[in-house]
Amino acid sequence: MSQDLFERLQKALAEREAAGLIRRLEARSSGDSRINLADNDYLGMAKDPAVVQAAVNALREWGASASASPLVTGYTDLHRQLEEALAAWHGYSYGLIFNSGYAANTAVLGGLPQAGDLVLADRLVHASMLEGILSSEAKLRRFPHNDLDALEILLQEATHHEGAVFVVTESVYSMDGDAPDLVRLADLRKRFGFCWILDEAHATGWYGKTGSGLQEVCGVRGSADIVVGTLGKGLGSQGAYVLCQRTEIRDTLINFAGEFIYSTYLAPACASAALAAMTRVQAMNGERDQLHQLSREWRQEFIKAGYAVPEGDSPIIPIVLGDAQRTQAVAQALRAAGFMVSAIRPPTVPLGTARLRISLRRGLKPEHLAAFVSTLKGVSL
Ligand SMILES: Cc1ncc(COP(=O)(O)O)c(C=O)c1O
Repeated sequence: MSQDLFERLQKALAEREAAGLIRRLEARSSGDSRINLADNDYLGMAKDPAVVQAAVNALREWGASASASPLVTGYTDLHRQLEEALAAWHGYSYGLIFNSGYAANTAVLGGLPQAGDLVLADRLVHASMLEGILSSEAKLRRFPHNDLDALEILLQEATHHEGAVFVVTESVYSMDGDAPDLVRLADLRKRFGFCWILDEAHATGWYGKTGSGLQEVCGVRGSADIVVGTLGKGLGSQGAYVLCQRTEIRDTLINFAGEFIYSTYLAPACASAALAAMTRVQAMNGERDQLHQLSREWRQEFIKAGYAVPEGDSPIIPIVLGDAQRTQAVAQALRAAGFMVSAIRPPTVPLGTARLRISLRRGLKPEHLAAFVSTLKGVSL
């Protein structure tokens, strides 16, 4: 390794450290009994007995690995079953499993738009979507977060655009827990004829009569041209999926997406766990109203305690503290006091908007809320 390279790395890390933005890993022990307000297992599926059993059964039947990329031998009956079940659940004709949501987004957004195309993306779309778009040769224009008036103006300006036009949004935003008006997006799509790519990662399981996500609850199931969803959040497993109405989209990904072609495929046990979780989640309709109520209650208590949090009923509640170092210190104090909470700092979120990202989960009780709010007040006000 050359001295120049070594010094370059040292300098970049020192700058991060000096700005109070250094990232460090903290290994968790299995016996950690803190109240978890940080991970994305919103429905408790990762430890659900039926889900764990399904994974164990698949481990026994298939072994620990897919052992090859999907076009070699990695694609199994379980992956096929899962992609078909996911597509039917969300109202799509075709599905394709990916190893992660990150890979699914870079594959879709790096592979479908091309030179001469135009991508209109919400300013806060996930890093994986942005990385995909930037690696394509398409032109990128970003519109202010959830501002569909601004999007409509961009669409009008693009009426005579010769290449394809893509619109890229999430349904529930990962760091803000808010959502765009999907009904209006579906209507804009009909009027302007763009290709709508929708990331439902944080809505699956939490929204919709059968839990398929925000399109379902908004009555526009199957409207986006392409849905990206993850297996590692509400479904308690690992991996991701892409859904579409046209076989050409799926075939293009199979033929051209390096993320799909050149990587050992998702372990069959993960596919099996996700299949079991889907069945569990679909049957939770009675509970979803309670989960939304839980979200509203937590938000109200934060507001009463003096924190400005947005209204809503998603599982993600941002408590924006602004300063990155203070946010980190508050999160550390909360962790020391028994609450697993993450501090989200720039560049993950815009400068000056460092925040605690509170993620809710099935099974949280009023006493957890009361204890958390009083501890939060103690360490942050
Ligand atoms: C909106 C969104 N899409 C995609 C991803 C990536 O998913 P995965 O964790 O499966 O790579 C995330 C991860 O946090 C996300 O928040």
